[in-house]
Amino acid sequence: METMQEWVESLERRARTRLGSGRVANYIPALAQRRADRFGIAICTNDGNIYHAGEAQEPFSIQSIAKTLLLTLALRVHGDALWTRVGRNPSGMPFNSLTQLEVEGGKPRNPFINAGAIAVTDRLVSAFATPSKHLRDVARRLSANPTIHIDERVQASEWQHRARNAAMAYLMQAFGHLDNDVDAVLQAYFSCCALSMSCVDLARTFNFLAAGGYARSLGEQFIAPDLSRRINSLLFTCGMYDAAGDFAYRAGLPAKSGVGGGIIAIVPGCFSVCTWSPALDERGNSVAAQYVLELLADDMGQGTG
Ligand code: DON
Repeated sequence: METMQEWVESLERRARTRLGSGRVANYIPALAQRRADRFGIAICTNDGNIYHAGEAQEPFSIQSIAKTLLLTLALRVHGDALWTRVGRNPSGMPFNSLTQLEVEGGKPRNPFINAGAIAVTDRLVSAFATPSKHLRDVARRLSANPTIHIDERVQASEWQHRARNAAMAYLMQAFGHLDNDVDAVLQAYFSCCALSMSCVDLARTFNFLAAGGYARSLGEQFIAPDLSRRINSLLFTCGMYDAAGDFAYRAGLPAKSGVGGGIIAIVPGCFSVCTWSPALDERGNSVAAQYVLELLADDMGQGTG
């Protein structure tokens, strides 16, 4: 019987066969320079052990993975009142689509599409003096890595190319659904997306979702068990955007992707996993990272994982 470490290494070997398909994101120019042949995977078990393979300690831009932490913090502060500003259903549309937002009166379908995350960020701008620093500090504590930082080059690049996100924010403001200044909300949102973290950092950070809300790195219940279950449900139905159904069919795990090429996924009661490879499919999800999660789920289903 193979050990956990041997299993993670075998997943890495098999996933590397998919390197070469997909394209590195270039709509945020600062992301375009990543080499497409990078691949990493890290698992954090609920008893606190880390197993990793490949470039799992190399920091990358977490991008939309930050939306999971934004949502968690906003629910901690605002509770169910958050749902007056954002819905809980899959959008069936690309992550940066504007069309639904106007038709549906400025209320984004869910917290993981860009409009939804901007609406959630607005609630955090109301609650914290510097929401991005607060989020960075939470990430530092959950991952037990005090060196985590916001990549200012990526943040500046997002700001420069903000037209679509700005259009969403202004549309929500026009519907009376944004309380704060559009630029302040966008700056906070971009800063959070520009956090630079590794697979190991992210697997540790999101372990609380595998452990019923208990954060081992903090030694405390970070969120209530029912909230943890609900966030996992939203990840399952909405975390992979318009590919959520396909990914649920392939891997059957709550997951959140980012255009930096990372994906976090949760096996409730067992472990959190983060995998990263920069080349994306046409829906903005990493090709090799999705594939390795499918392999992982297959192995677990066959009792070989
Ligand atoms: O706002 C954006 O477009 C990026 N900061 C985040 C998008 C993203 O990561 C989509 N995920 N696959």
